[in-house]
Amino acid sequence: MTWHAVAALAEFEDRPVLAREAEGQALALYRLDGAVYATQARCTHAGALLTEGEVVEGYIECPLHYGLFEIATGRAQGGPVCRDLATYPVRVEDGQVWVEIAPVGA
Ligand code: FES
Repeated sequence: MTWHAVAALAEFEDRPVLAREAEGQALALYRLDGAVYATQARCTHAGALLTEGEVVEGYIECPLHYGLFEIATGRAQGGPVCRDLATYPVRVEDGQVWVEIAPVGA
């Protein structure tokens, strides 16, 4: 596993979710109640970009069919979504957001 610097904390200023990429994987970063979380960016239902969805009380709502996922755990919250999102460890140091992702091929 490798840590990647993916964003500055200040980039969340006006937005609760950011789109990023590391190790060829599209990521969604969320700032929620002072913590930062990372999930895969594509919805597990039909692949819509969750970074274009709405953050609603701890959940990300998919913009395509309005599936809900719990941001902190990636857990799918019922139809039409039934597969959880991949989540990634996050740490914040000196205003920099780091995400741990396995290198490609690992
Ligand atoms: S693509 Fe996300 S709910 Fe269908």
